[in-house]
Amino acid sequence: MNFYVLLSLYFALNTSILCKRQKIIGGTVADIKDFPFLSSLRNLTTNKHFCGGSIITKRHILTAAHCLFEKDYSIIRIYVGSNYSVSIYSEGYDIESVRIHPHFTGYNSPGKGSRHDIAIITLNKEIEFNVHQKNGIIQADDVKVEVNAEILGWGLIIFPSKVYSMVLRKASVKIIKNTKCLEKIHLPIYDEHICSDGNTKFGVCLADSGGPLIIEDKIVGIASFCIPCARGFPDVFTRVYNYLNFIRTAVNANYQLNISVA
Ligand SMILES: *[C@@H]1O[C@H](CO)[C@@H](O)[C@H](O)[C@H]1NC(C)=O
Ligand SMILES: *[C@@H]1O[C@H](CO)[C@@H](O)[C@H](O)[C@H]1NC(C)=O
Ligand SMILES: *[C@@H]1O[C@H](CO)[C@@H](O)[C@H](O)[C@H]1NC(C)=O
Repeated sequence: MNFYVLLSLYFALNTSILCKRQKIIGGTVADIKDFPFLSSLRNLTTNKHFCGGSIITKRHILTAAHCLFEKDYSIIRIYVGSNYSVSIYSEGYDIESVRIHPHFTGYNSPGKGSRHDIAIITLNKEIEFNVHQKNGIIQADDVKVEVNAEILGWGLIIFPSKVYSMVLRKASVKIIKNTKCLEKIHLPIYDEHICSDGNTKFGVCLADSGGPLIIEDKIVGIASFCIPCARGFPDVFTRVYNYLNFIRTAVNANYQLNISVA
């Protein structure tokens, strides 16, 4: 997830004890064919996965703003169509341009959380769609509470560590009310956030920053921040429903989005 925010939270909340025990973050292995819109953002210098994203058209990736904010885009490459978080198994795309939400608050605001954490990447060339790589469907209506959702990615499997999963993993979570989330997390939670319930068995690190929150195969959220890691605190996602206009505007009209009702 967002380690800059995580660090801020860490100090703001003095929750260092929460992170002492190493723990394998659960979930199960997933097949990219079931989530063909999932993409991996990698750092070409280190050749490491660092954020997730969702294919929303042949040329556009939906992700979190903090994955790209103040970064050198020329050393980021997007990989699609693979179960694996290592480059040799999949095709990479370079970034042509990035649209970060104009009101994104940045990630370095201790105790303040993170707002408008959403960005759209335009790729340098079109993704050829097939069963392993195609656009996801964005849910056009708002998310209900107490429903089940899925998180997925190649996120950390041990925390604290730098051990990312080699294979795609998924876990199921429950959407909770923002008021309940606020009670548990003690950080500002706004209408444009969605929270999933904390669980001590899995979560959090698994949902890579920038990766999707999914309900019935539709994208409803973008992993934004959390208190590490599967310690029973809610995970916080950007509520995609609040940004449909931003998404429509950021996407070149030549490329078709699929925004459908639940
Ligand atoms: C991807 O992972 C799934 C689940 O483990 C597996 O069934 C499938 O064969 C894998 N695909 C490739 C191309 O490795
Ligand atoms: C890539 O990794 C290098 C070396 O750790 C780091 O300096 C750089 O900021 C990273 N870039 C991105 C875009 O993550
Ligand atoms: C959106 O996705 C649904 C489900 O796969 C499909 O039936 C529909 O045709 C798609 N619409 C567009 C505009 O691509």
